[in-house]
Amino acid sequence: MIGKLNHVAIATPDVTAAAAMYRDALGARVSEPQALPDHGVTVVFVELPNTKIELLEPLGTNSPIQGFIDKNPTGGMHHVCYEVEDIIASRDALAASGAKVLGDGEPRQGAHGKPVIFLHPKDFAGTLIELEQA
Ligand code: CO
Repeated sequence: MIGKLNHVAIATPDVTAAAAMYRDALGARVSEPQALPDHGVTVVFVELPNTKIELLEPLGTNSPIQGFIDKNPTGGMHHVCYEVEDIIASRDALAASGAKVLGDGEPRQGAHGKPVIFLHPKDFAGTLIELEQA
């Protein structure tokens, strides 16, 4: 079902500092910080030859990653995103297999403007999974 790794998301309390380390210490190409108020995050995209890293900082009072930062004050890996061809078929197959789809199960528009769903970490080795219809 799953295809390419689309991105790995890393939450951080300071996306500017995190981006500087990726740029200066690791020599990666990084974007300018972009505020995504609808998603409650400020994001920096790190472009790698085979995938992307997204550095996320909470934005606003209801950020969906604030709780994660509260539990992990220095930041950490937040989720991995895999591409799928058909998000509805994938969701239905996962639900039938017993995996828990977060929220109401309906795809939402993700940070890239494409439909996404999230899968509960308990079913996948403790890792939050995002599926994006590529
Ligand atoms: Co993501």
